[in-house]
Amino acid sequence: MRGIVLAGGGGSRLFPATKSVSKQLLAVYDKPMVYYPVWALVAAGIREILIISTPRDLPAIKVLLGDGSQLGLALSYEPQENPGGIAEAFLIGKSFIGGDAVTLILGDNIFIGDRINHLISTKIQTFSGGAHIFLKQVSDPKRFGVAEVGADGTITSLQEKPEAPRSNLAVTGIYTYDANVVGIAERLERSPRNELEITDVNQAYLDQKGLHHSVLPSEETWIDAGTPDSLVTATVAVQQASRHSNGTFGSVEVAAFLHGYLRSDELVAIAHSYPNGPYQAMLLKVASGTLA
Ligand code: TTP
Repeated sequence: MRGIVLAGGGGSRLFPATKSVSKQLLAVYDKPMVYYPVWALVAAGIREILIISTPRDLPAIKVLLGDGSQLGLALSYEPQENPGGIAEAFLIGKSFIGGDAVTLILGDNIFIGDRINHLISTKIQTFSGGAHIFLKQVSDPKRFGVAEVGADGTITSLQEKPEAPRSNLAVTGIYTYDANVVGIAERLERSPRNELEITDVNQAYLDQKGLHHSVLPSEETWIDAGTPDSLVTATVAVQQASRHSNGTFGSVEVAAFLHGYLRSDELVAIAHSYPNGPYQAMLLKVASGTLA
């Protein structure tokens, strides 16, 4: 399983915060936003990850995350010249995906909670073909892609930002596909807003009866941090998650260490390469096994 983090876009709803910096580099509590989706993939056991962003922002994201080799990861980077839609990730990532399955996560999506992240990990690790999407109950489904689930528990329809939603189950920004997704994306037509739509990819799998789903636990949190208000909500939710996890929530270094991709002495060396501060102290405690 490979991973793609799609971290470009226009960031127009966060302007002027995004005038000179990527939305995904804005801080959400103590980490840049893009840490959380990268963390979610690494926590789910994905080590080969392609990060896509704008030509302007890609260099700064590379400085932040590097090639991942110190963490036992393989991080690579590709630009998206224009925000041509979420499904463009599969065209840009065609050679990266090769014949493998792939999980795509949006760079502004944050999934918080042990049960949510355990469910996502399990479904990714046991993925066996077709597509798997993750739904969550929301109070304002008109803002999202919406899935209708029939009495037999399978998805019966998908709607993109519908005026009259048929359910309150939003399609969240993490999606797992088999390698056929590249061909499906290549055959898509652009939508009226001139984008390759992820809903059209999911519709293609639905038409082939290959679209599977999970509903994320309603008492835990999924946030699309793309507006000023949701950025504040995300910051507060991550602050709480950070407190509950002794600062480990969203730490890519900790996720890689817990998977055994690096030894404790290597984690200590990484921590010592960072400034003396709470993040360094947390990593040293994790390395020495003294963090509860
Ligand atoms: P959106 O939040 O839908 O779009 P945006 O980031 O351009 O923001 P705004 O609407 O305020 O201008 O995008 C969801 C995520 O997907 C976000 O992390 C950016 C990413 N994205 C791309 O990288 N490329 C794209 O072409 C699109 C549409 C989104």
